[in-house]
Amino acid sequence: MLLHSALLALGATLAAAVQPLEVQGEYFINPKTGNRFQIVGVAYQPGGSAGYDKAAGRDPLSDPDICMRDAALLQVMGVNTIRVYNVNPDVNHDKCASIFNAAGMYMVLDVNSPLVGDSLTSDKPWESYYAAYLNRTFAVVEAFKDYPNTLAFFSGNEVLNNEETGAAVPPYVRAVTRDIKNYIKKHVSRTIPVGYSAADVRSILFDTYNYFQCSIEGEDDDISRGDIFALNSYSWCAESSFEAAGYNQLVSGFKGNAVPIFFSEYGCNTPSPRVFTEVGTIYGDKMTGVFSGGVVYEYTQEPNNYGLVQMNKDGSAKLMADFVSLQGQYGKLDFAKIQDQKPASSSTAKAPVCDSKLITTDGFSNNFTLPVLPPGAQEIIDNGVKPAPKGQLIKITDWKVKYTVKNPDGSAITNLAVKPLADDEINSPGSNTDSGTETSNDGSTGSETSSSPASTTSHNAAAGAGAGVLPAMAIGAFAVVAGIAF
Ligand SMILES: *[C@@H]1O[C@H](CO)[C@@H](O)[C@H](O)[C@H]1NC(C)=O
Ligand SMILES: *[C@@H]1O[C@H](CO)[C@@H](O)[C@H](O)[C@H]1NC(C)=O
Repeated sequence: MLLHSALLALGATLAAAVQPLEVQGEYFINPKTGNRFQIVGVAYQPGGSAGYDKAAGRDPLSDPDICMRDAALLQVMGVNTIRVYNVNPDVNHDKCASIFNAAGMYMVLDVNSPLVGDSLTSDKPWESYYAAYLNRTFAVVEAFKDYPNTLAFFSGNEVLNNEETGAAVPPYVRAVTRDIKNYIKKHVSRTIPVGYSAADVRSILFDTYNYFQCSIEGEDDDISRGDIFALNSYSWCAESSFEAAGYNQLVSGFKGNAVPIFFSEYGCNTPSPRVFTEVGTIYGDKMTGVFSGGVVYEYTQEPNNYGLVQMNKDGSAKLMADFVSLQGQYGKLDFAKIQDQKPASSSTAKAPVCDSKLITTDGFSNNFTLPVLPPGAQEIIDNGVKPAPKGQLIKITDWKVKYTVKNPDGSAITNLAVKPLADDEINSPGSNTDSGTETSNDGSTGSETSSSPASTTSHNAAAGAGAGVLPAMAIGAFAVVAGIAF
C-alpha cells in the first residue's frame, strides 16, 4: 500500500504519456487495455518537402510554437496520429513530441527524405544502399525511440511506383526493413514496428504486400518481414461507395493479413472541397476487420491542393473548408466504441511462407535472397550510431497557441490551446472542447487585409459545403461558427 502511493506520487510528477502501442498479429493493440487501436491520422509536413531543411536545422517537429498551433487544431478535430515524412535526426524534437504526446497523438515517422543519400532510389536501388544511408535511418530511430508516442517507422515510401520498379526494388526495401529491425532489437528497449508505405498501383499492390509480409523459411525471428503494411490510396473520390471506390478489392485482397494494414494517405481531392464520405466506411464494419484506420493527406495547404489548413509565413493560419468537413465526418462516428474493440480472435493470422507462387505479376521480383549489408553497416548495428541523437519527453507549462488562427469565414478562433490529456488517454473528437468557444468577428485580431486566391477559394468552398455537411455537434466551435457564418 505504502509502495503503491509512493509510486502514485512519483507518477504524478512525471509528464503524462500515451501508452506505447504494440503490434499483435494483424492489430495495433494497447497492451494495457487489450483494445485494438484505429489510426485516425493526418499527414503532417508543413511547408511540403521544403519543411525539412537540413542546412537550416529545420523539420516539421522542430518549432514548438508551430507544433502547439497544429496540435491544438488537430486535437479539436479528433485526430490521434500524425504521419511525418522528413525528419532531421540531429535537431531537437523534445518539445514537439511532448506536445503531440500530451494532446494524445502518436507519430508515424518515415526514416527517409528525398535528399540524395537519405533514401533508396527506385531505378538503381543498389547504388543508394550504403552505410551512410543506413546510419541516417538508424539515427532517426535513435532520435525518436524514447518517445512513448512513436507508433511506427516507415522503411520506405512509394519506392515501388510502377511495374518496372517491381523487378529490383523489393529485395532492397525488405533489406532496409531488416536492418532497421535489427538495429531496434539491439538498441531499443521496446519493439517499435517497421513497415512499408506503398503506392496504390493496383497491378503490383498485392505482390508488394505479399513480398513484404511473407515469412522467409529458416530466417531468425523473421527479422526482414514488415511488421505493418500501409498504402497511399486515392481511389475514393467525392460521394463514392465501398464498391465503387474499389475498397472491396482492398479488403478481399488483404484478407487474412498477418500484419496491421492501414491507409498511410487517403483523400482524393477531385472535386474540391472534399466531402470525406470515405471516413464512415473506413471506420465501419466493412473495413475494420482488415484495416486499422488511415491517415488523411494532408494538414497544410501546399501547391498540390490537399490542405486542411492554410498556413502563413508569420505563423498565422486559417482553416479551410476541408478541415470543417473532415471534422464533421469524424464527429458522426462513435469513437468510444470504435477504439474499444477487442481483437476478433487471438491473432490467428499467420504470414505465408515466401514463395515465388505468391508473386503474380510477370517481372516482379520473386527472389527472396536479400542483399547483404553494405560494408561498414554491421559495425553501426553492433556499436550504435555515434554520436546518437537522443530524445525525451519534457515538461511543458504553457499550452496556449501564440498565433492567430481563423475560421474559414475569417473570424478569429479564441482560446486556442492544447488540452493536455491524462495518462494513457488517446485523443478523439470531443477531447478538447475548450478551444475556440468564443469568436471575435471584429477583425481586430486579424493581420490579413486582403484575401489570397487560396483563402477566397476556401471561403467560397465553405459556403458551398454548407450547414448540410456539418452535423450540429458539440465538438468545438469551428464547425458551428463556419455553419452559422454563411
Ligand atoms: C551517423 O549519424 C550521426 C547522427 O546523425 C552523425 O552525427 C554521424 O556523423 C553519422 N556517421 C556517419 C559515419 O555517417
Ligand atoms: C537474388 O538476389 C541476390 C541478392 O541480391 C543475388 O545475389 C542473387 O543472384 C539473386 N538470385 C537470382 C536467381 O537472381
